[in-house]
Amino acid sequence: MDTNDIIRKLHNINWNFDFNINYSSDSMYPFDCRKHYSYPATFIPEIPYTLIEILSRKGDTVLDPFGGIGTTFIQALLLERNPISCDINPIASNVCSALYELLDPDLDHETLKQQLLSFCDNYDGKIDYTINTTEQQKELDGWYEKDTFNKICYLISKYNEVQDVRLSNVLKLVVSSMLSTLSSQNKGWAYIADNVKPKDDEYKSKPVFETYKTRIKLLFSEIEVHLKNQAETFKEFYNTTAETERIFNASVVDVNLSQVDLIVTSPPYPKMIDYVKSQRMALSFLNKKHSDYTALEVGARCRRANKNALDEYKASMEIINKHLCDLLKPGGFFCLVLPDYPENDKRKPIIDSMVKSYEDYGMKLIDEFKRYIPSNRRTISIQWASLVNEKILIFRKES
Ligand SMILES: C[S@@+](CC[C@H](N)C(=O)[O-])C[C@H]1O[C@@H](n2cnc3c(N)ncnc32)[C@H](O)[C@@H]1O
Repeated sequence: MDTNDIIRKLHNINWNFDFNINYSSDSMYPFDCRKHYSYPATFIPEIPYTLIEILSRKGDTVLDPFGGIGTTFIQALLLERNPISCDINPIASNVCSALYELLDPDLDHETLKQQLLSFCDNYDGKIDYTINTTEQQKELDGWYEKDTFNKICYLISKYNEVQDVRLSNVLKLVVSSMLSTLSSQNKGWAYIADNVKPKDDEYKSKPVFETYKTRIKLLFSEIEVHLKNQAETFKEFYNTTAETERIFNASVVDVNLSQVDLIVTSPPYPKMIDYVKSQRMALSFLNKKHSDYTALEVGARCRRANKNALDEYKASMEIINKHLCDLLKPGGFFCLVLPDYPENDKRKPIIDSMVKSYEDYGMKLIDEFKRYIPSNRRTISIQWASLVNEKILIFRKES
């Protein structure tokens, strides 16, 4: 791939993606994982979709080492690249795995959808379903109004009973995705991360089964549209991807991977977000403790008061970045979305020195695009609100 040609193509893109995009339902378009699971600081799907289209070819391997709910992974899959995703957060990896499984063209989607919809049919409001939950699942108590919680526990009891792996994985995705929405605490992920439960006068009944059915219908209709628009070759391609493990609930440095053609990622920004703790409800539902994962999370907001937090972030990212540059094939591209801090921000030198270090690892910066973060993504917390711009950096590994 000729670098000048690529730079020309990259410059033709409006990286803000701030115009109204009306995708036609009969052609391929980016798959928006955020519609099926609300997770902090996810990519708009257009970013990885466009980068993958321009910077790789069909059959190439595309890695996202901070894969989140799989935005890069799913675009790569649909564009017939071999996707790989790593993330230390088991909730993020579960979402990515469930979406990947659902995009199997051989799956009997209609039967699966009907089975899932029928789970609501036998709810009996006189039964106390909260007693059937595990100790860890009981930690969900306190976030919901009483009847809302009983209905959630009914769905959880269905999940606990299900044997079929595919059914169980979609149920896991849909129930996890509803847990924060149905809570009476709706001030955003930071309140959940900080374990701030609703006050006595804040409890509100929420439509559990309506939300569940709506989500299932949306999920299956989107999967259907995307599969319908795939090229003839997709079915065969999908089956080849299933031969290798692709989604790792681990740091990329702890996984044994062969060299990759393209890396597209957005690492955690320093002291900004609690990716693990913000998922405390979904973790409890899946019988997991957040304390088993938070220590693995780079840059976690919950460690912001530690005086060494920025140095620790820098040291962890250095190890990961060096590893990633080794993993990339010569001539391959490394795309990063990073915060564009104002001059007086204490975190700016950390990001600047990280950018500089890629050159020491044999990477050449070939282009850089500033991006404006739309205001609807800037209302969650004060620190996030103060970040107005991001930048997309495109490095190429020297041959
Ligand atoms: C900016 S988010 C990525 C979101 C992703 N681009 C998406 O669209 O879903 C950063 C991710 O890095 C993950 N993370 C934090 N520390 C990590 C580590 N040491 N190794 C792998 N993933 C990590 C977090 O759990 C979070 O999901």
